[in-house]
Amino acid sequence: MDAMTTTKKPAPVTALELQAMRRRGERIVALTAYDYTMARMADEAGVDFILVGDSLAMVMLGHDSTLPVTMDEMVHHTKAVVRGTRRALVVADLPFGSYHASVADAVNNAARFLKEAGAHAVKLEGGHEHQVNCIRAIAQSGIPVVAHLGFTPQAVHAIGMRVQAKTEDTIKALLAQALAVEEAGACCVVLELGPAEVAEAVTQRLQVPTIGIGAGIGCSGQIQVVHDLLGMYPDFQPKHAKRYADLHATMVAAIGAYAGEVRGGSFPEAGHSAHVELPAQLGH
Ligand code: KIV
Repeated sequence: MDAMTTTKKPAPVTALELQAMRRRGERIVALTAYDYTMARMADEAGVDFILVGDSLAMVMLGHDSTLPVTMDEMVHHTKAVVRGTRRALVVADLPFGSYHASVADAVNNAARFLKEAGAHAVKLEGGHEHQVNCIRAIAQSGIPVVAHLGFTPQAVHAIGMRVQAKTEDTIKALLAQALAVEEAGACCVVLELGPAEVAEAVTQRLQVPTIGIGAGIGCSGQIQVVHDLLGMYPDFQPKHAKRYADLHATMVAAIGAYAGEVRGGSFPEAGHSAHVELPAQLGH
């Protein structure tokens, strides 16, 4: 038995608990994770909300946008994250194409995440009528659903990669979408790349918590992509991300040290292997 099974399981964070945290004025800590090892570290560090983000298309699979990742790939990664999590709420991201054609697709794919992967909630992007209908149907099916507004990466080809809601009209549109997704049953709202003042004003008008990314300090909580936080994705460093470590450099150096020792004949040392007395006919 390992430590995961022997120590007492902490009370799990639920979607309702996130709302209670907002009422108590406790900031919600959210982070992405895409595999067992990373989920276990995030959970151990006290993260409340682990998102199996479709950003895994880029940081785990090497695509240049989030669009190519499939439902099957998302389910595969979500299963691993669930195995590594004891306390945090695990939210699985509905990928591009999994809810775009119909509300029925949205509910079926949301249910797959709970049934096949063990996720506790799902997230989808956008606040237009179709997405509001998807949120309503998923919520009415008894599946907690997180909305994602502001910059929505799955719509990158339509809206560009830029800060949203900077003009009076677009600020009002964002607020209207936030109220609509809340009314439809979203249990919280991710706000990505919106001006801090706008995100704070939206947060004040909602009952449910907001989770900001590049949206200032006035949200109910914050989310980051774990690879940005740990310096593990050298291809791109978003302005909104703060690096708490430079693991890319640390890991490349460690692997380089291993390679050097293998080539130089100093690894493995005697203690890294089992040893026996050889029978006489095999001895030197
Ligand atoms: O996929 C993701 O990582 C996300 C976060 C940026 C919120 O949606």
